[in-house]
Amino acid sequence: MDIEAIRADFPILKRRVHDLPLVYLDSAATSQKPQCVIQAEVDFYSHHNAAANRGAHVLAEEATEAHEGARAILADFVGAKPDEIIFTRSATDSINMVATAFANATMYAQQGLPVDARFVLNPGDSIVVTELEHHANLVPWQELCKKTGAQLRWVTVSRDGSLQIETLESLVDSRTKLVAWTHVSNLLGHQIDHRPFVAAAQRVGALTLLDACQSVPHMSVAVPELGVDFMVWSAHKMLGPTGLGFLWGTRQALAAMPVVETGGSMIAQVTMESSTYLEAPAKFEPGVPAMAQTVAAGVAARYLMTLGMAHVESHVRQLSAYAAARLGSIPGVTVLTSADGDPVSAVSFMVDGIHPHDVGQLLDSRGIAVRVGHHCAWPLIKALGVPATVRASFSVYSTHDEIDQLVDAVIACQSFFSRALSHRGA
Ligand code: ALA
Repeated sequence: MDIEAIRADFPILKRRVHDLPLVYLDSAATSQKPQCVIQAEVDFYSHHNAAANRGAHVLAEEATEAHEGARAILADFVGAKPDEIIFTRSATDSINMVATAFANATMYAQQGLPVDARFVLNPGDSIVVTELEHHANLVPWQELCKKTGAQLRWVTVSRDGSLQIETLESLVDSRTKLVAWTHVSNLLGHQIDHRPFVAAAQRVGALTLLDACQSVPHMSVAVPELGVDFMVWSAHKMLGPTGLGFLWGTRQALAAMPVVETGGSMIAQVTMESSTYLEAPAKFEPGVPAMAQTVAAGVAARYLMTLGMAHVESHVRQLSAYAAARLGSIPGVTVLTSADGDPVSAVSFMVDGIHPHDVGQLLDSRGIAVRVGHHCAWPLIKALGVPATVRASFSVYSTHDEIDQLVDAVIACQSFFSRALSHRGA
């Protein structure tokens, strides 16, 4: 990939912060946007803005074509069919939708209404996750367990960052209704092998949900080949706009899943007493959609597909390996890795004797943006026995030179704090 040409596509990369060139190493939190994505929103509002999927005028037809065209591109991006893609507000929203569908199904079953038993949770049933989940793929399941009396179980993480995957066989049993896990850790950065999770769930007929927020932006993901029932990810981490997430589901899973939010444009028929609903995706998309965002997300997916996801993955993996090696060679710096695999696009580290927040502040003073803290993964932080980390994360526009600048800044940070400490000692 021609990284300099790619960088020229991202206007924000020309920015200066603290009068220094921006070094943006926080793409796992949110990625930057190429001009074509920014322009797609401007073009939509400037020329085509109308409510998609309703209205019989030219603008409404253009808006519908652009919005549904984006759905087709996003489906293509993950090897799926357009009617399997639900537009949501975020990946977090997508997970909450599935959790709420379980809660709704459980309530309906208690009232004797017809529901698919796979979505019904009774006391004694279980949901299985892992200890390295982002809070977005943990807290909604905790709340669902509270509502239904189901039990939350998890695969624990060893100090070396590996999952104790051998426990999956006993954690997943005939009372397990859902197995949910992440594809790529947002903190340790490595890819999790989905196969044991899918096999364990399929053995007992449990549904499966994959959090693909940190994988889909960086690697070729052909979702039908994974064998999962649901997959979630967000637009803003894949060079797309904020405020838009995706829920992919198999046609069978989406047909069986009860509605979550209700309103206009998702109904087949309405009387004053009751309503019937359209099939997915409309069934899960009440209200006027975020059309400017869906259109721009389609442009982002096309941009990535034009680069080629194999090239994107190779680039971010090379950067991650380079960052891990260079940071790891600095005395007093510990790179946190997992024994389960190499980082894909994010590297977490700690600097002896300096709190990650202080490291982050010093890096910021040099124009370098990283994320510091618990990274919305408190249980993992605790399992690893660390207080917090500094995380550098990469995307298509990141460079080896930026990692060199990060390394220089970390060394400068060490010398700044050692001077400060010796001064205090004196
Ligand atoms: N989920 C995002 C992260 O890991 C915000 O930083």
